[in-house]
Amino acid sequence: MIGSRSGRRRVLARGGRTASQVRWLQRQLDDPYVAEAKKRGFRARSVFKLEEIDKKHGLLRKGMAVLDLGAAPGSWTQYAVAKGCRVVACDLLEMQPVPGAVFVRGDFTDPAVLERLAALLAGPADVVLSDVAPNTTGLRNVDRLKAEAAVEAVLDLAGRLLRPGGACLVKLLKGAEAVILPLVRQDFAAHRLIRPKATRAESSELYLLATGFRGRGEPGFEAGREG
Ligand SMILES: C[S@@+](CC[C@H](N)C(=O)[O-])C[C@H]1O[C@@H](n2cnc3c(N)ncnc32)[C@H](O)[C@@H]1O
Repeated sequence: MIGSRSGRRRVLARGGRTASQVRWLQRQLDDPYVAEAKKRGFRARSVFKLEEIDKKHGLLRKGMAVLDLGAAPGSWTQYAVAKGCRVVACDLLEMQPVPGAVFVRGDFTDPAVLERLAALLAGPADVVLSDVAPNTTGLRNVDRLKAEAAVEAVLDLAGRLLRPGGACLVKLLKGAEAVILPLVRQDFAAHRLIRPKATRAESSELYLLATGFRGRGEPGFEAGREG
């Protein structure tokens, strides 16, 4: 079980570190999920959120085609590859290669990036994952709207690239349900909201797991096929 703390180390406020950098570093050192991720060779603690959801709901299986949006630094991609999935990953930021996955650097809302992702999938996706976190401005309402817009864009993309019966796991902020759930009900047979144990106490993040994609009967995916 992840959760025990041992050998607590203190971060020193030196080397030009700001107070918030010191707090961040101390939190990293104190966080058992960070230590466990490092021990198991994962690039980020967020892997434990995906692992918990996957273990409980049987999301990822060998041979599945998975699209991982907001993938950097890459722990979800690492996890899905380790489960035997074929992964196409995308992020605005550069990501160190994950053997067994292909990576597209870009904004997933850009139509050219969408085309590239569809071409690399070379067939409908079984699962769309999104841990996308838009850059924040510090203005609460603006950030909330940006986060909602990102989830809507993920659901739109999932509607274009998923196979009928496929699933979408997407991060959202608490409070966005009123806007997002009506969209989900149109396209998916079932959904649930999950707050994984690895979520930081102060965070308002939730994960929406939508399953049983109904299909849209559009030839959208075929347009992106390469070759
Ligand atoms: C919390 S991190 C993802 C962590 C990742 N799941 C992992 O396990 O390593 C969120 C990521 O979303 C990316 N992101 C935000 N907006 C994006 C966009 N429009 N297109 C692609 N990536 C985006 C950020 O660059 C950031 O790397």
